[in-house]
Amino acid sequence: MTKTNKNEFDSLIEDIINNEHFLETKKDLHHGTSKYEHSLRVARLSYKLSKIFKADSRVTTRAGLLHDFFLGTRKEKPENSYLRHPVTAAENAKKYFNVSDIEAEAIKTHMFHQVLLKKLFPFINPKEKASIKEFKPKSKEGWLICASDLLVSIIECERFQFTYVANVALLLLFNIILFKN
Ligand SMILES: [Fe+2]
Ligand SMILES: [Fe+2]
Repeated sequence: MTKTNKNEFDSLIEDIINNEHFLETKKDLHHGTSKYEHSLRVARLSYKLSKIFKADSRVTTRAGLLHDFFLGTRKEKPENSYLRHPVTAAENAKKYFNVSDIEAEAIKTHMFHQVLLKKLFPFINPKEKASIKEFKPKSKEGWLICASDLLVSIIECERFQFTYVANVALLLLFNIILFKN
């Protein structure tokens, strides 16, 4: 990252990373790291991708940072579950950081790759409901956050690499189908 980009990135995340509620995510373990560290990695990659794909850097970075903004593990409460935690994170982001509708929507759709996977293999987390219409990213920024989270998760979860590579392939395929025109 160039110095100018680093300064821009830091200014975009400054208020969030120093917020007392967001700092609570340091206590939660996520993919073998803290949720705070995971979120920062996703924000950093989202920011870089926003420059490459000419997306809104503010939306992509801040929504990337807040994409997993829920407290506790995904198994503790129904609203923190595998496919519902994006909705909880979007609500928390609105409550504590007054994020815009496009930012909230991008947070809400960051697990779309898993929704697709569940449609193909319904035996995965059978109690969870997966709606393509509800959880398909609605903006370029939403797609970038979805891809960033997936890529960062692959690096963090080496033991799940095969599953994640399959997920990336699915996501890319879906992108190609959606944007072929
Ligand atoms: Fe997540
Ligand atoms: Fe995540």
